[in-house]
Amino acid sequence: MQSELMYPFLENFLNSYESIDIEKIYSYSLNNKIPAVDKSVGEVLRFLVQLKNPENILELGCGAGVATKYLLFSDKIKLTAVDYNADRLGKAKEHFSPSDNVEFVFDKAENFLNKTEDYYDFVFVDTIKREYPGIWHMIRRKLKNNALVIFDDILLYGYTLFEDAEIPGRYIQSVKELRNFINEIKCRYPSNSSVIPIGNGLLLINHEKC
Ligand SMILES: C[S@@+](CC[C@H](N)C(=O)[O-])C[C@H]1O[C@@H](n2cnc3c(N)ncnc32)[C@H](O)[C@@H]1O
Repeated sequence: MQSELMYPFLENFLNSYESIDIEKIYSYSLNNKIPAVDKSVGEVLRFLVQLKNPENILELGCGAGVATKYLLFSDKIKLTAVDYNADRLGKAKEHFSPSDNVEFVFDKAENFLNKTEDYYDFVFVDTIKREYPGIWHMIRRKLKNNALVIFDDILLYGYTLFEDAEIPGRYIQSVKELRNFINEIKCRYPSNSSVIPIGNGLLLINHEKC
C-alpha cells in the first residue's frame, strides 16, 4: 500500500548502507564507465554471504570487481571471479591484494563452467542477461547441496514486468529470455526461489539436491 510514495526514495536509502570500504573501487568503476552493482545490491550480497557462510564462491562476470569486494566478506572464503574482458579483469586485480583469497580467471563463463572441477556453495551471476538460462543449466551441475545462486538484473530496468508494447526493441529479446527463465525457476523451485526488487532485481535460488 502507498508504495509508489516510497520507491523514489528507496534506492537512495538502501545505497546509504555502507558496511565495507567500497568507495575507491566503486568510484573507479563509475568514473571509467565500467558497469557495477549498485551499493544497495552489494550490501544484500554481503549480507547473504554472511548468512550462508559459504566456502567456495563463484562470480561470473566480475567486471572491475565491485561485487567481488562485497562477496569477499570473510578471509575463510575462497572466491573465483571470471570475466572475458581482460582489461576489466586487470583493473579488478589491482584492487585486491595477494593475501585476499580471490582468483581472477580470464575466460568465458560457459568455458569455465565446462572446465572447472570445483563445486560451489554460493554463485553470483552478472553476465549478459540473455545468456542466463544457458549458464544456469551449466551451473546446476557444479553446485553443492543447499547452494545459493543469485542472478543480477533479472528485472532489467523493470522491462521484464512491462507490457511488450512498452519495451524498447533492443531489450525485447532479453526480456523474453528472462521471463521464460524466471518462470522456469518458479516452476522448479516454487518454495526455494524468490525475486528481490532491489537494483535491477535479484533472482535467488536455493538449490537442494534431490
Ligand atoms: C555488469 S558487468 C559486471 C559488474 C560486476 N558485477 C561489478 O559489480 O563490478 C558484466 C561483466 O560480465 C562480463 N561478461 C558478460 N558475459 C560474459 C560471459 N559469458 N563470460 C564472462 N564474462 C562475461 C563483461 O565483460 C562485464 O565485465
